Amino acid sequence: HASAKRGRRIDSLGGKMALDRRRWFGHATGDAPYEAIASVASNEFNRITPENSMKWETIEPQQGVFDFTLGDALIAWAEANDQAVRGHTLVWHSQLPGWINNPTVPWTPATLKPVLENHVRTVVRHYKGKIDQWDVVNEMFNDDGTFRQTVFYNNFGTDYVCWALKWAHEEDADALLFVNDYNFEYRGAKVDAAATFFKSLIAQGCPIGAVGAQAHLIVGQVDEAGITAGLSHFADLGLLLYLTEVDIRYEIGRGNDIANYTPSQVGQQAKDYYSLTKACLNVENCIGMTLWQYTDKYSWIPGVWAGTGAALPWDVRLNKKPAYTAIYEAI
Ligand code: XIL
Repeated sequence: HASAKRGRRIDSLGGKMALDRRRWFGHATGDAPYEAIASVASNEFNRITPENSMKWETIEPQQGVFDFTLGDALIAWAEANDQAVRGHTLVWHSQLPGWINNPTVPWTPATLKPVLENHVRTVVRHYKGKIDQWDVVNEMFNDDGTFRQTVFYNNFGTDYVCWALKWAHEEDADALLFVNDYNFEYRGAKVDAAATFFKSLIAQGCPIGAVGAQAHLIVGQVDEAGITAGLSHFADLGLLLYLTEVDIRYEIGRGNDIANYTPSQVGQQAKDYYSLTKACLNVENCIGMTLWQYTDKYSWIPGVWAGTGAALPWDVRLNKKPAYTAIYEAI
């Protein structure tokens, strides 16, 4: 990642990460008009992730028919604003198109494999040289460390993981290839099983380069030492790390507006962002972090867990919270 883009200002989260550490500080965006977010985003961050626009249902809505409209718009914005791009995501059980989920004839390994190969190759080829990090496989594990039963696992066992990594690598040898998941921050059944699996991938020559820990976390439950240990467990395999979808939500029923929280609650979130940032910086192989949206205004959290929210460093009015300053000071 020697070509780290700095973003427009040295004095910013992305600028500090790039300058001092050769690391990344990014944000994810939905398909809201970029002008609404552009001035903050282009100043603060040096990397962007499409929140939804490169998922399978959007990018290949009909079999063999690819629609890169939204993805290409994001790339154009990123190029104009000096941001690198994380590709998200090639192989995932969620947000699949209907033709995969409800095929007219049930899939067999023989019919599904060329479909998967075509998807991975076509998308990576289209963005070759424009996307330098790909979430190749997303959320393949259950929390107990077993493999998630998906249309891919049910047809191929775990073989599809190495195939997808190899296809992606053949299309763009310069892209850093990730397996990404939630609850990848702390040691436990999931992280330990995943590390064992990744070790076998590496032993077989599968081109996994990095692990993405989503880091959808909860205020009051962020432990710097614990996360440092979790990330280090993957780093010990020689893999790079990235906190790919950071948000730290309140689960105390006060909703999405930080104005409804007490000073000590606001302070706790700031502490948690500080701890999380430090945990990444503690691990030499942790090359950056990305907020899953940067403002509460566009966060996915309240839509999924009612009553929770206020999870991001910018509030619903796009004002910075103490969490912002905490990250800034941690870097
Ligand atoms: C979420 C988006 O934020 C929502 O807008 C969408 O409705 C559902 O997906 N893990 C992932 C992300 O890898 O792709 C998910 O994004 C959040 C959980």
